[in-house]
Parts: sequence; C-alpha cells; structure tokens
Amino acid sequence: MSANKRIVLSSDHAAIDLRQAIASHIATKGWEAVDIGPTTPESTHYPEHGAAAARRVASGDCQFGIVLCGTGQGIMMAANKVDGIRCGVCSDVFSAQMIRQHNDANILSMGARVIDEDLALQIVDAFLDAEFEGGRHATRVDMIKALEA
Ligand code: RB5
Repeated sequence: MSANKRIVLSSDHAAIDLRQAIASHIATKGWEAVDIGPTTPESTHYPEHGAAAARRVASGDCQFGIVLCGTGQGIMMAANKVDGIRCGVCSDVFSAQMIRQHNDANILSMGARVIDEDLALQIVDAFLDAEFEGGRHATRVDMIKALEA
C-alpha cells in the first residue's frame, strides 16, 4: 500500500455532519480528504457507501478510509466484503490504535449515534498516528488475507 496520504470518507445519512467535521480535521493534519458523500440528508443505503469507500482503498487510490453510519456497524460489514479491506468499528481510542498496530486495518468505522464529535476526532488521530507492528501480527493478518482466496 503506497503512503499517498489520501483518505476516502464515506457515510450514510446518519453521519453527514460528523463526516464533514472529520474531513476538515484530517486536512489540518496534512491528509488529503477524498469525501465521496453523500451531502444531502435523504435516507440512503450504507452498503453502497461502504463499498464505494472500500473500493477506493482496495484499488490503492486512497491509503486509508473512514466510514460512518449510525452505529458504524452496517457500513463496516459492507466495507469488509471488499477483498483487501480490513475495517474495524471503534468507539474508543485504544481500539483505534490496536486495529492499526495489530490488525493493519485500512478503514476505520465509527457510529455517529454512538460517540460524539470530540471523541471521534481523537479516535481518528489515534488511528492515523499508529503504525502496523508486523512480526507475529503480520502472520495473523496474512491468515485473514488467505480467507479471501
Ligand atoms: C440508518 O438508520 C442506520 O441503520 C445506519 O446508519 C446504521 O446504523 C446501520 O448499521
């Protein structure tokens, strides 16, 4: 995965405000935010948005993704159906560090109806600041990848 400093952001209708806040936040940290919407509040379908973000990451167009829905769960499930994606839902800072350090997660999911904006931004920072540790964790991540074959 190239370190292209591009992050795709996607959500359903439940998380538009949080997604836009995160896009502004990561831009101040030197990341390019690729916000693929939606921008209008009509009810929409999280699987479509999760898959669209996942494909941007799986193709290498974006280094990471951040996906959001009401709970973070549905859009995470959709993103993980795309080969090459390891997406975890986080509602705490420790888990956000761990999914990078141990699981080499390439997409972070959060729930806009679960956590507030301040915590979400802390979680984003933890995810982006952490690095995959490799070693025994690479063995396990390779085992996840093998499940796609
Ligand atoms: C939409 O009402 C809601 O179901 C969705 O945002 C998400 O929470 C699903 O996992």
